[in-house]
This record gives sequence, C-alpha cells and structure tokens, in this order.
Amino acid sequence: MISGSRIKSTLLQSRIMGADDAAAFITSGSTVGMSGFTGSGYPKSVPLALAARIEAEHAAGRPFQVRVWTGASTGPELDGALAKADGIEFRLPYNSDPIARDKINRGEMEYFDMHLSQVAPMAWQGFLGPLDTAVIEVSGVRADGSLIPSSSVGNNKTWLDRASKIILEVNHWQNPALEGMHDIYYGTALPPHRVPIPLIRPDDRIGECYFRCDPDKIVAIVETDAPDRNLPFSSPDSAAGAIAGYLLEFFHHEVAQGRLPRSLLPIQSGVGNIANAVLTGLVDSPFTDMTSYTEVIQDGMLDLLASGKLRMASATAFSLSPDAAARLNENMAEFRDKMILRPQEISNHPELIRRLGCLAMNGLIEADIYGNVNSTHVMGSRIQNGIGGSGDFARNAYVSIFMTPSTAKGGRISAIVPQASHVDHITQDVQVIVTEQGLADLRGLSPKQRAKLIIENCAHPDYRPLLIDYYERARLGSYGQHSPSLPGEALSWHQRFMSTGSMMIA
Ligand code: COA
Repeated sequence: MISGSRIKSTLLQSRIMGADDAAAFITSGSTVGMSGFTGSGYPKSVPLALAARIEAEHAAGRPFQVRVWTGASTGPELDGALAKADGIEFRLPYNSDPIARDKINRGEMEYFDMHLSQVAPMAWQGFLGPLDTAVIEVSGVRADGSLIPSSSVGNNKTWLDRASKIILEVNHWQNPALEGMHDIYYGTALPPHRVPIPLIRPDDRIGECYFRCDPDKIVAIVETDAPDRNLPFSSPDSAAGAIAGYLLEFFHHEVAQGRLPRSLLPIQSGVGNIANAVLTGLVDSPFTDMTSYTEVIQDGMLDLLASGKLRMASATAFSLSPDAAARLNENMAEFRDKMILRPQEISNHPELIRRLGCLAMNGLIEADIYGNVNSTHVMGSRIQNGIGGSGDFARNAYVSIFMTPSTAKGGRISAIVPQASHVDHITQDVQVIVTEQGLADLRGLSPKQRAKLIIENCAHPDYRPLLIDYYERARLGSYGQHSPSLPGEALSWHQRFMSTGSMMIA
C-alpha cells in the first residue's frame, strides 16, 4: 500500500496517524458509531487499539467501557475484541459475535436488538442519545473531502452526520472499483417533513455515490490493509436442498396461478446457509430477468448474477465466503454495474419493501403450530443473533416465507413447538413455513387450519404425534377455541429440553 494514495485531500492527509493515537480520541463512557454490516466494511484497526487500551486501563484498576452502535454484525477485530476486553457497556443492533453473545447471555453486556431499518431514524429522532465518535471504514477520500464507501453502507451516513468527531479507516484491501456502486440517499427527514422516497424499481439510483462529510469533524485517519471477515458457507446439505426444492415448486405454482410474474418479484434473502442454498437453487430454475431488493449479497446472489438469471441486486452490504470475495474482487468492474449498495434505512425500508412487493425468505429458530415465529431467542431467553432485518421484510413482503430444518441439535429440539418461547414475527406476518419435511402455505387460513397444516407438512415425524396429541387435547380443554392452547403445558417442551437435554419424551 502506498500511504496517502487513497486520500486525495491534502488538508486531510495531515490527519493520518496510527491506530493507537486515533483510539486515544475515544473516551470512557462515550458512544461510538462504528461502520460494519454482516462482516464487511467494519473498522479493523482502531477497535483493536481501543480494546488494548481498555485492557490496560482495567489492569490499572480504572473502569473503561463504551457504548457501541453499528450497522449490524461486524468481525472479531471489533465486537470480538471489545467484548473480550469487557469494553462494551451497551450495544445495538444485530450481533452474531460469539464472545459478545456469551457476555449478553451471562448478563454482562446490555444489548438492544432492534429492526435494522429503524436504527438511523431513531438516532435522528434523538431516542438513542448523543453520538460522540464515528469510526468508519471507507475505501478512499476524494479531493473535495467526500468519502468513497467501503463494502457495506449500513448506518455510516447517519453516524458521519450525527457524530461530534470522526475517525476514518481507509482500507487499501478494498477494491478501488467499488467506487460508483453505492447510492447514498440524503432525502430522509423527520416528521412532519418526510416525503416519499423516489425509488420505484430495485435498480433505481436516487442518491449520490459518496458520503458527504464535514472535514472539520475528522480528527484522525488510519490506513489499513486488512480483509473483511469472510466466512465460508457450508455446501448445501440434504435439508437445505429439500427446502430449496419446496420453495422452487412454490414459486412455479404461484407463477402458474398468475400470482407472480415469470421474473418473480424482488427477492430478499436472509442470512445463513439455507438462504444461500435457495439462491443457488434458483440458478437452475427457469425464472429469468429476476431482481433482488435485499439486505446482504451472499455467494448464491453472485452465482445468480453471473448466470444472467438475476438482472441486478440492491443491498446494503456483502456477506461473502473467501472464495466469493476473491471472485468479486477479480471481476468487480463487471459486477459493479449490476449491484447497488444503499444505507440500511433504504435497503430495509418498510414502505419500499411493501411497494416493491418483495419475496422475503428468512431463517427461524422455532415456529409454533399457529405460525408465530421466534427468530432470536433459544429457549425463550438466550439470544442467538438478533431480529436483524427479518421484521422489516416479513411484515411488509408480498409473500413472507420462513425456512428451517425441522429439528435442531441432532434431533433433540423440534423447530415446530406447541407455543413459541419468544415471538419476533406474529402469525399475521408469516405466510409460508418450509422445512425439509414440506411447505405450509398459510395465506388466508385461520389458526386451527394453520395448526393442521404446519403439523402435517413441516414437523419432523418424530415430533408429529406429540404435536397432534397436544393439539387434540387443547381442542378439548382450551379456555377458548380460536387458538386452542393449554397454557400449563405449552412451554413444557422447552422445560423438558432444559431439564433433560431433549424435547423428546424419554
Ligand atoms: N433451538 C435451539 N437452537 C437452535 C434452534 C432451536 N430451535 N434452531 C437453530 N438453533 C441453533 C443451531 O443449532 C445453530 O447453533 P450452533 O451455531 O451452536 O450450531 C444456530 O442456532 C444457527 O442455526 P442454523 O441451523 O445454523 O441456521 P442459520 O445459520 O440459518 O440461522 C437463524 C438461523 C434464525 C439464527 C438466523 O437466520 C438469524 O439470525 N435470523 C434472524 C435475523 C435474520 O433473519 N436476518 C435476515 C434478515 S435480512
């Protein structure tokens, strides 16, 4: 890397310094808005230096913690390092870091797991308190001081606007050909001044390619040359393959019924291996000229773009395996014209999702027999990751689909339970549930009709008789017959797992 080569503003070149000096601008008790979304575009050097400083302060017997706001999950150099140093007092939104997760579940770190589209508006509304410092990875600084975004946009626009001081990380690892891919919309406002967002199709560009930034607020620029945290996807197993198969069959059926065009509708695909397997399955489908209005671009999305079946993808970040990241880097110029990265308040905007008519496909932890979905909490209390963008998409989609293997932990847990131990998506926001056992199309069905279909089509055969038994007894003994339930028994499956290690009756 040639130092300074990506910083075209001579005024700002004078603020280049090492990560330790930059981290010294962050004070204990302050709020820091970091860039980063699903392991891409997060600062890789200042958070590590901050973690080292926090550890030194703790060793000297002095308390030091910060409040951290991000776009979504980041990488081990940020969440992992700061959590390990016991340096995070409070964090929002989505987290998938295992060290931070443990801290949260041990009650040692506060965490606000919020809808991703709402983070920036809530920051502007003043609901989250002041923002002291923004630490933002960019891929370059232009002569006029505007910033070339990196591999994620997330909440960066808002952090840059709201923070009192700014630390930039200019990452030479990021491909310079990223320039021009982004669409940063500056038309958002607070009520009563809000106006419609002028985005009609997923490929519309409504903003600018760069972040505006007040140069007087930039206190430090740190140069890095470090890769994003790219994790490999596991190759689709038989459950993922079966789920993808049922979904493709469902799309065929919807096209045949005239409820979907042959190009489908803009696809939203959640995080994880199953979502990736579904995208891969679409490569061999007859659907063409597809578009995607989604949160993250995963490997399967690159395959779809390369195959020509997907015309374009709009998202806020990349979430790629190392192989796919290398492939994207090598072919950036070719892919760039087919991709748009936007702020997450736009990629996940409920009104846009509703108007575009997205096909939302997300993972779940458990669903109950009435179709309420838990995406976040294991056994009702232990956070796995967070709601992320699943609520933004599920409530507003044209069809809201949730998918999961029918069991977890080697069959010791049923993903279909009498009652969800925590609810993120109420039954009205859940239209289709798919497991490797089959697909339940719940649209237009009453709770009892839903229960029958979910148990028959989605539950694992080992758990199906137990669910039928519960449901039949609930039909006889329930206080009401709209959504029959036995409150004293409804969460007994979870209790049994916590007591015996399995939901199955011994
Ligand atoms: N009970 C207990 N643990 C369960 C479980 C259940 N019912 N279902 C899944 N799990 C565990 C798995 O065993 C696995 O644990 P491990 O990491 O210790 O092996 C972990 O949860 C992840 O499950 P996995 O089967 O690998 O699925 P995934 O990677 O597709 O993730 C979610 C599933 C629900 C955790 C994930 O989709 C998520 O975080 N969703 C919420 C956010 C979201 O939807 N974002 C996209 C919006 S754009």
